[in-house]
Amino acid sequence: MAENFNLEELQNPSAVFFLFGATGDLARRKLFPAIYSLYREGKLKEDFAVIGVARRSRSQEEFREDVYQSIREFCRYKTEDNEEWRVFAQHFEYKSLDINDVNGFRELKEQTEKIEERYNIPGNRMFYLALAPELFGNVSFNLEKGGMLEGPGWNRLVIEKPFGYDLKSAEKLNEQIRQVFEEEEIYRIDHYLGKEMVQNIEVIRFSNAFFEPLWNNMHIANIQITLSETVGVEERGGYYDHAGALKDMGQNHMLQTLAMIAMEPPSRLLPEDIRDEKVKVLRSLRPYKTNDEVEENVIRGQYIKGSARGQDLPAYRDEDKVDPNSNTETYFATRLFVDNFRWAGVPFYIRTGKRLPVKTTEIVVEFRSMPTNVYLGQKHKLEPNLLVIRVNPMEGIYVKINAKKPGSENDIQPVAMDFCQSCMVGINSPEAYERLLHDAARGESTYFTRWDEVASAWSFVDHIAKAWADEPSKLSTYPAGSWGPKEADELLAKDGFHWWPVNGQDEDNVVWQKYN
Ligand code: BG6
Repeated sequence: MAENFNLEELQNPSAVFFLFGATGDLARRKLFPAIYSLYREGKLKEDFAVIGVARRSRSQEEFREDVYQSIREFCRYKTEDNEEWRVFAQHFEYKSLDINDVNGFRELKEQTEKIEERYNIPGNRMFYLALAPELFGNVSFNLEKGGMLEGPGWNRLVIEKPFGYDLKSAEKLNEQIRQVFEEEEIYRIDHYLGKEMVQNIEVIRFSNAFFEPLWNNMHIANIQITLSETVGVEERGGYYDHAGALKDMGQNHMLQTLAMIAMEPPSRLLPEDIRDEKVKVLRSLRPYKTNDEVEENVIRGQYIKGSARGQDLPAYRDEDKVDPNSNTETYFATRLFVDNFRWAGVPFYIRTGKRLPVKTTEIVVEFRSMPTNVYLGQKHKLEPNLLVIRVNPMEGIYVKINAKKPGSENDIQPVAMDFCQSCMVGINSPEAYERLLHDAARGESTYFTRWDEVASAWSFVDHIAKAWADEPSKLSTYPAGSWGPKEADELLAKDGFHWWPVNGQDEDNVVWQKYN
């Protein structure tokens, strides 16, 4: 049933949270700490409970100990083994379950009803599946068969990416879960949408008189989105070698960020209005249909051995659980076009990679250059204005402008006007998962991806994946610790642009450098 967004829930989402995959990495690193932060901030009161579900057997005490250790290690709030902790920990229970066995779900139902009674929870149930997508269908069917969806309150399904491996598998998956849940009850997580600065894009754009009028092809020359990581594939080689950068980061985080940058202002700031505008962007992406078009516009690379900060780094093919002959890309960069009135002719360049020199997420909006006749013959060439949105790890925005160099005749130098959110004392931005868990629990779906967005993103990505599958060995390489294959620089150079250095550093270390 479609739900209403209700004021009381806004203040206090009273529910049982079922974490499927409770012994996994996501629960340990992100979900338990997020729940604890929400509790510490009063966003969860005493009327909530968490039931961790996984196959492994665990006593209630062992499970609570896992939760304790995870919070100690990963939470932005610290805890001690004291009375406050014990009260919180009592809200956690564990259920060992084979997800193919409906009887286990019936037992879960009894356990749930008891805990709902104990904490006075009105039957609201949120099922968070931190599981492989192949399991989403079966879990949904058994939740229904086991009577778990018959409570008096709402039911919501929260699922993690990857949502399928291509459009076809995503459709199949969606069909399965839609047999049990309505679209309005499904919350597809893209944790980038939970990041403060990604959400801030909307506010920066739509509430500032000097950005929105310039936000189009008359004034913007190009837009660059960089999601760079220093880590390699870590222990996730088994998954990553089948996914690759395009599906791991491109289909979801990067296209979602692009949609936030490129969307039209919605008529109201309501979830469906915003999602309608985002999906229009994804549908307007110019598809690369032939292999030649893909080759011309998309670069893929894989890291070979290299070094960073004095440390030798192995090649991707030598990483654990990776096929030694793998052609999976650990880097990709592409030039995209949003074929609508606002963006006609403006290239969007996006790039992501593992084992790059810095961890950062940054969006650079490069404005068209001013006519240079007035300043011809100056020592420094007039640089274009930039608006830089820093998403992570630093949060903030800055605008790069040209100004007179103090004391000089008329020398021009670039300077930055900046707002550094993460430098401000007392600002400790919530983790993306805190925000998203809280939103799902109060029925706020703006920052979750709707099915039509997922489908449009897959149709765009599928063309690229197919071209690569036809010619798997056409893959560039880059040394671990470098900025990716040189072809990615050439991609911009042929349009007369270059990647702006991230972190406000450029080769000359000029004064607009702000964030070392
Ligand atoms: C995940 C990817 O979705 O995002 C990972 O699967 C990647 O490969 C991670 O490391 C990056 O997220 P963040 O928030 O650290 O930028």
